Amino acid sequence: MLYITRRATFSAAHRLHNLKLSDKENKYIYGECNNPNGHGHNYVLEVTVRGNVPDKTGMVIDLKDLKKIITENIIEKVDHKYLNKDVDFMSDIIPTAENLVIQFWKILKKALLENNTELYELKLYETENNIVVYRGE
Ligand code: NI
Repeated sequence: MLYITRRATFSAAHRLHNLKLSDKENKYIYGECNNPNGHGHNYVLEVTVRGNVPDKTGMVIDLKDLKKIITENIIEKVDHKYLNKDVDFMSDIIPTAENLVIQFWKILKKALLENNTELYELKLYETENNIVVYRGE
């Protein structure tokens, strides 16, 4: 079994705010991230797939295909967007790094399966120091 990671980047804005809570509670929980007009991040997404190396091609997945799947399914949807309003799969979901990565997982898992490839892990860097890792469970 071999693991392949492809890295992608995007820039996006968000506001952490739960409509079910009062403004005061939101401010308390999210602090600066609750700023009414949002703030931005330069995100880095690492997508790891795994599989056996077939004799025929010597590749778990063609990296051109992996890049295309990530670009079309994720990056084009979120890059230079306001995550709270512009992204259909994030509507009514608080756009924390945790929730982003869970949605990314659902989308990429399916898209990769259609390419006969198993998604193993997603790693989302919201900043250099804040990183979320998800393996689908
Ligand atoms: Ni933020």
